[in-house]
Amino acid sequence: MKLSLLPRYWYVIAESRELTQNAVLARQVLDEWLACYRGSDGKAVVAQDRCIHRCGKLSSGSAKDGTLTCRYHGWVYGDGGRVISIPSEGGAAAVAKRNLNAKTYTVAEHDGYVYVCLAPDAQSPALPFILPRPAGDRWRSFRLQNYFHNNLTNCIENYIDVPHTAYVHHGVFRKPAQQQIRTTVSRQAGHVRVTYHGETGNLGSFAFLLNPGGREIEHEDNFYAPNITSVHYRLPNGYSYYITSQSVPVSEMETRVFTDISYDFGVFTPFAKWIARRQAQKVIDQDIDILNEQGSVIKKYGQKFSVTRADVIHTLTEEIISTLAEGAEISSLKDCSREVVFQV
Ligand code: FES
Ligand SMILES: [Fe+2]
Repeated sequence: MKLSLLPRYWYVIAESRELTQNAVLARQVLDEWLACYRGSDGKAVVAQDRCIHRCGKLSSGSAKDGTLTCRYHGWVYGDGGRVISIPSEGGAAAVAKRNLNAKTYTVAEHDGYVYVCLAPDAQSPALPFILPRPAGDRWRSFRLQNYFHNNLTNCIENYIDVPHTAYVHHGVFRKPAQQQIRTTVSRQAGHVRVTYHGETGNLGSFAFLLNPGGREIEHEDNFYAPNITSVHYRLPNGYSYYITSQSVPVSEMETRVFTDISYDFGVFTPFAKWIARRQAQKVIDQDIDILNEQGSVIKKYGQKFSVTRADVIHTLTEEIISTLAEGAEISSLKDCSREVVFQV
């Protein structure tokens, strides 16, 4: 996949709370090295991680009161990445009339996240994608960040892949060959939606609490190009949880994933955070393990897959991402809808 062809999207680089006034964060998106800090106006600055003086690494400099100082010769950068002082030339006066700027990128801050778009301004989409997650008094939520040594596509697909859950998350979700599940899989432009029918037993050790009668669960997964997935479960007793993941391509085989988990467990909601967070991280750790291993095999032997009927979600998702990565329009893809049966 050519990552260089995916820059015209917003990618989350940090939670807003991480980028404090005196912090500098090193990040990488689409192979580009980035240094992030806040200017004196509080606005996030995302610059190429390269001092324009003599290529010091800006992210190893120090941030203070809205400025970033390069640790090599002390050039000081301010709001918007502008150079505001060169110590060897006498400080601020030397640069007052000169227009020296780090290379910076378009930034947006939204819903507690800092986003960057690497495309030139004119091509930046107006706003970051609004995450489809619930809000309201009944809901509580938390965020997780994780790092995978695998590519964007395989990470996205893992989050909406049901057959692996019986193996990788054995006991947490379900055991192998427990149930036949009917699904409707549809694709429209850059959106893949998977609706599950007749699913009853995928709640593992908490089934007795969450779905004691073993009745049908509502389950829908979505993929929104190029990098967002959401998984939504609604249980017969009205309990509900919603998992949204933003997978950010760091490099060809590295992906940073920001996950938002929202839940409504009725009267248990106020007490569920600790256990919900622990269970969620446990499941993601199992995914990191399998995806890192898959990534190592792909690095050695290349990405060659055998496709079965049950892999239809992967096929439809991969077509979208490879269409984008080839620089073509997603509108060239045909809309489709299929009924698929999984045995898991
Ligand atoms: S390289 Fe950054 S100040 Fe010289
Ligand atoms: Fe998983």
